[in-house]
Parts: sequence; structure tokens; C-alpha cells
Amino acid sequence: MRQYRVAIVGATGMVGQEFIKVLEQRNFPMTSIRLLASDRSAGKKLFVTHQEIEVKEAVPESFKGIDIALFSAGTETSRHFSPIASKSGAVVIDNSSAFRMYPEVPLVVPEVNPEDIKWHKGIIANPNCSTIQMVVALYPLHKVNPIKRIVVDSYQAVSGTGSAAVEELTTQAKQVLEGQSTIPHVYPHQIAFNVLPEIDVFLDNGYTREEWKLVEETRKIMHTDDIAISATCVRVPVYTGHSEAIHVEFSRPMSPDEARHILAHAPGVKVLDDPTISLYPQPWSVVDTDEVFIGRIRRDASHSCGLTIWVVADNLRKGAALNAVQIAEEMIKREWIHPGG
Ligand SMILES: NC(=O)c1ccc[n+]([C@@H]2O[C@H](COP(=O)([O-])OP(=O)(O)OC[C@H]3O[C@@H](n4cnc5c(N)ncnc54)[C@H](OP(=O)(O)O)[C@@H]3O)[C@@H](O)[C@H]2O)c1
Repeated sequence: MRQYRVAIVGATGMVGQEFIKVLEQRNFPMTSIRLLASDRSAGKKLFVTHQEIEVKEAVPESFKGIDIALFSAGTETSRHFSPIASKSGAVVIDNSSAFRMYPEVPLVVPEVNPEDIKWHKGIIANPNCSTIQMVVALYPLHKVNPIKRIVVDSYQAVSGTGSAAVEELTTQAKQVLEGQSTIPHVYPHQIAFNVLPEIDVFLDNGYTREEWKLVEETRKIMHTDDIAISATCVRVPVYTGHSEAIHVEFSRPMSPDEARHILAHAPGVKVLDDPTISLYPQPWSVVDTDEVFIGRIRRDASHSCGLTIWVVADNLRKGAALNAVQIAEEMIKREWIHPGG
């Protein structure tokens, strides 16, 4: 099997660490791995497949001789280094929102639109974490019975914001339990023992940018402008695992049993749905798993063509690192990438 030279930009971050784990666990065919971060982490040592590797500061020369560059270092870093990496001959798979809506950049979830990878021009975008798990769950149903409208409410974990937010939740939880006051740094308000209906900035239309990403990205990935979508994204005091309550209106009625049957055979999906034993997906139990978990499948009492479902996935894996690695694997499987260009 051909082997590839891989770089991770943002290797010391939450998603970067998950990239390393996913590449190891899936025996990704690599001859070498370059770990890149900011100057703050240069010189730090990380282990990849039992080998100690020094983290280097990302500079324009970092991408020479790289076949696949996995980016998870924020929008600004992606904007700056992705075109440089691409010019150096690497295929960039970018986790940030920098290029997702560019018409010339494919936005890919391998279970939904793998064919889009083919028309990339050097950069492929990984969608937002809450979008990925929603389209993996809905696309198999949409293929059978086209979706007309989606109303989604998300319950998003703090690891979606990065390592500083994880620390903030721990610190604040201790402070609250010890009767001390908390000072928010990462979020506008205390996150411990609280929920915040604000993820990313507010837009002029009253939605947040996170909510609007769900709207626009879903349409781009599913190749349709016809689905009406409304979202409310909420940050919750959970470390890892995003949850979503999704209300879907189809073109025709669909029974919960039919949906369960379709989803049971859908790629990347696991149905956990038995209310008699309180069986449904929970963020705590999906950590470190690859699938998108679905439960609470029921008729929407407010619409004859409606279903309501509950969807949970590990935001650092399927919502970020795993999806990006699956894009690379898809390119390799279809022979759309060759080592050395
Ligand atoms: N967390 C999620 O669930 C999730 C899901 C989808 C997408 N994403 C996206 O993935 C990216 C990273 O998220 P994260 O959660 O891993 O954040 P994080 O834990 O805060 O890590 C940020 C990483 O970026 C690096 N970095 C920052 N500035 C840099 C620069 N100028 N040059 C090179 N590296 C730089 C940091 O390196 P230092 O150690 O040197 O500071 C660190 O490795 C973001 O764009 C985020 O939107 C995250």
C-alpha cells in the first residue's frame, strides 16, 4: 500500500490530539508525520505510534514534502497557511470555517457527498461538528423521502471550543462547589451548572454564526437549497459529545419504524432506541466512539409528515478529526491522491 507524508497543524490542541489518536488507531498509511503548532508549543514532544516527535512552529517551509496537511489551528492560521501548503503540493483538509462556503472548496462528509472530494483544488473543508452529525443522521432518510424542513436545537460540549474551555468548565465547577464566585474568560457567562444559548457571534438576523453554519453547510453538503432550516445552538456544561434534538418534516409521512429500519442500515450510524429501558444516546457514553448515535425516534405530534429524533456524537472525533481522516482515506481508496503529488 502507498504511504503518505502527513502534517498536523494544531497538533497540540484538542482536535490535533484526536488526529494523532485516530491516525494511530486506523493504521493510516504514513511514512512520516510532522507536528506543527504556534511558537508557544515549539520544542514540546508528543508520541505518535510510540515514537517521540518534536512539535515545530508552523512556518511557510513546514509544508515542503508533505502529501496531506490536516489543519485544526483556527481560522486565521488556516487562512494564512492553507494556500501555502496547497502550493507546496499538499492536499489540505481544513477543520476551520475559513473556506467552507467557498464555491471552489468541497465541504465533505464521506457518508453523504464523497464524490465532491474529486473536484478539490488543493483545499477540502471539514464541516462544523454539529453539521456533520446532523447530515449523517438525516441524509439516509432524505434519500428515501426528501426533507422539506428541519428545526434543530443543539446541546454542545465545551471541548468544541478548545482546550481553554475544558479547563474553564473544570475550574468553575470546583469554584461553584466550594462556594466561590467565578470569572468567565472563554464564554460571556459562567458555563458550570449553566447553559448558554450563544455559540460564536450574533448576526444581524438574530441567529448566531454557529446556527447559520448549520443552515448553510447542510444545504451545501446535501446539494439542496430547498430545505428550510432553523437552528438554536446551546453550549452546555458537558466536556465532550454534542447532542441534537431534530424535528424533520418530510415530503410524505414516514413512520418511526421505517426511519429506524433505514438508519439501522445507514453508514456511520448506530440506532440506540428503546424507551422501555431508557435506552437513548448520551454524550457521556459516546466519547471515543466513531458513530453518530440516534434515538428517541418518534412521530412529530405537530405535523403529519414529521419525525423527531435525538442525535449524539463525539464532536472531537466524527465532528472533527475522524471526519477529516475519513476524507483522506476516501481519497486514497479512490486513488485521487498520490504520494509525492
Ligand atoms: N473542538 C472541536 O470539537 C472542533 C470541531 C470542529 C472544528 N474545530 C476547529 O478546529 C480548530 C482547533 O480547535 P481545537 O478545539 O483543537 O482548539 P485548541 O484546543 O484551542 O487548539 C488550538 C491549536 O491551534 C494551534 N495554533 C494556534 N495558533 C496557531 C498559529 N498561529 N500557528 C500554528 N498553530 C496555532 C495551537 O497551538 P499552541 O499549542 O502552540 O497554542 C493548538 O495546537 C478550530 O479552528 C476549531 O474551530 C474544532
